[in-house]
Parts: sequence; structure tokens; C-alpha cells
Amino acid sequence: MSDLRRVGSHPDFWYPVLHGYKLKPGKVITTAFAGEPIAVARAADGSVFALEDRCAHRQVPLSDGVVCGSSLKCGYHGWEYAADGRCTSVPYLSGDRSRPHGVRAYPCREAYGLIFVFPGDPAKAASVPFPQIPASTDPLYKTRFLDRRIACHYSFMHENLMDMNHQFLHRSLMGSIRPTLLGSSRGADFMEARYTFARVGGSGSLGETLIIGEKKGQDEMVIRTQYPYQTLTFGRGDGKNALDLWLAYVPVDREQRVTASFGLMNIKRPGIPGIIHLFWPFIVWFTEGIFEQDQRVMESEQRAWDAQGEDRNNEVFPVIRQLREVLARNGRPISDSASAPPPAPASQEPTHGLPEVGGNASRGTLSPPPRRAVRRTRVPQVPPAAPDIGPS
Ligand code: FES
Ligand SMILES: [Fe+2]
Repeated sequence: MSDLRRVGSHPDFWYPVLHGYKLKPGKVITTAFAGEPIAVARAADGSVFALEDRCAHRQVPLSDGVVCGSSLKCGYHGWEYAADGRCTSVPYLSGDRSRPHGVRAYPCREAYGLIFVFPGDPAKAASVPFPQIPASTDPLYKTRFLDRRIACHYSFMHENLMDMNHQFLHRSLMGSIRPTLLGSSRGADFMEARYTFARVGGSGSLGETLIIGEKKGQDEMVIRTQYPYQTLTFGRGDGKNALDLWLAYVPVDREQRVTASFGLMNIKRPGIPGIIHLFWPFIVWFTEGIFEQDQRVMESEQRAWDAQGEDRNNEVFPVIRQLREVLARNGRPISDSASAPPPAPASQEPTHGLPEVGGNASRGTLSPPPRRAVRRTRVPQVPPAAPDIGPS
């Protein structure tokens, strides 16, 4: 397998880029996917739309502009763009003149308190499944939004969560816990591992107990990478899971060495109404502590990769070796987009609708916004699949 840290997240999926509550009506915020700046705006009617965060005129960020109704107006000369990316007004061009094409529009949806964009081929957006997260709309659960920017390649994050053998890292918060792998399964686009846990020393924190409850019966944790998302559930087979976590890892920079992690941590409410609010600060304290420990170690892994220039990991755990194959198979090489700036859209041609200049400028035509071609290169080859892990 080629170096997994050089494999990029495949853009033909729905990725969250922002928590909805952060974007008020009439506001615009800049986000990014793999180095592509994306302006996400909320119209006056509450709907959201996403545009390439570069004005077609002089490439300045549209996120520095102004939302007008359901359009976005650049803050420099006031060119105005509709939610579909068309340039609908150039204030100093009379109405009968043709206008420049516009900017790229990204399919955009809001659900579960998150704003999602589809950064890949827009023609695929309608057919690619949108994430289904039933616990996030189930009143039996209280949801905690996770939002963390981590300076590492997204693959370290998939590996970190799926490899429960790293509980030693969390000894200060969780005592000594011994995980046992119950089994695993995988397919072309997923990897799943199931564990149970035994305490072998120390004691768990209050936050841990509040999330998973007192130990009664066989517990089971299921961690699944369903490309490109990851989930973790924890339960005892006695009804709904005590914990249902959904995560998406969104590459921020072109080299994909910085990842924005968006999570929905759904915790089952205890039987006594309202008591979860009392416990919530302990749950927050505990989970933040765990995530901070994970963040530190994952960023150390990325620094080692940066210093060594390649992946020299000696991974011995079959689950993680198989997970790496799934990630490599479903991603696409970072060099596909990182080695060169993206192609310029047709709107950057300096030929549109200004015949006064020199008297011979060609006349542009009003046409749909350009779609950047999604360049395809060969996905890295991976060795034949290793056998699934059986009960241990
Ligand atoms: S740079 Fe945006 S309108 Fe001129
Ligand atoms: Fe961890």
C-alpha cells in the first residue's frame, strides 16, 4: 500500500463544515475543504447556501461580503451572486450588458445542527447517501456537539478511535482497562470492530460512569468506519445504546495535514427526567479530557511523519491494517489536488461585458456558473484483503 498519509479524503461525499447555530440569518462564514475556500451563507429566510469563497472579479473572499436576501454581494465592488453561483449584478454595468459567469456553487444542506456541503462532483450530490444519524433526532438522547481542529491527517483519527488498544493513554482519566476484541468485519467501504472491556486496576471517573452507567451484563463497543464517516456505539444489548457517537473528519488544507473534526455525541438520558443536565458538566469535562489526550498524540504522529517524510509505522494490529486498506481504497491521492492550484473557471477570462474599454472587448454571454472538472487519477492499489478477525 502506498503511504496512506498521501491519500486524500474523497470529495464525493457530504461533509459537515459548520455548526448551524454559528451562522445567523444574513451572515456568511468562511470554511474549507482540502484547501478549497468555501463561503457558507444563511439567507434572510434561514436557508443556507455555499459558494466558492473567491469573487470571480478579483478573487477576494466573498465571505468578506454582505448577504442580501438570498444573494451574496462581494465586499469590494459589489458584484452579486445568487445561491446557485450565478453573477446576478455588476452594479456599474447597465442591465442590458451581459454579466460574467459567476462562481462555483456547492450543494449545501443543513441537518442535525450541522451544515453540510458536497465538495465533489455536484452531479453526484443527489445520489450519494446523506448521513443517517437517528440518535441525533431521538428525544431519548441528549446531543453534545464536538468541534475540534487537529493538526494531523484524517487517517490518524480513524485509526485512533478504532484501535482500543490505546487505553493506556487514558489511564489518568479511566484507570486501567483491558479491551478484548470480540470480532470484526469489513467490506469495500467499511471496517468494523467490536470490543468488550474489563477493568484491571484503578477506578473510572464520574464522567465515564455517567455516560456508560454502572457495569451490568456484557458491554459491547462497536466502532465502524463507514467511509468517510466513523461511528462508535456502546451498549449492553438491553435496548438502546448508552452512547451513540457519529464523527466526520474534514480535511482543511490542501495537503490534508489539518483536519476539522465534527461530531455528534448522543448520550442516552437516564430514567429521571432532567437529571442529565445536572451531570452534563462532568460528561463534558471527561470527554474533553479524553479528546485532548487523543489530540496530543495524533498531532505527535503527524509531526513524526512530517520529520521523516513518510509513514514508518509498524502497525501490528490486524484491525488497523485492514482499516488502512479501506481508507486507501476509498480515498484519492492528495497529489491530485495538492500539487497544483485548481483550474481557473471560465469566469476568470477578462472578456466580459465592458466594451467601453478600448472599444473592442468581446461580449460575454450570460451562462450557468462553471463547474470545475473533478480530476480523477488512479486510486492507490492495495494488497489483497487480509482475513477478517474472529472472536478472540
Ligand atoms: S473583487 Fe469582488 S466585486 Fe470586485
Ligand atoms: Fe483515545
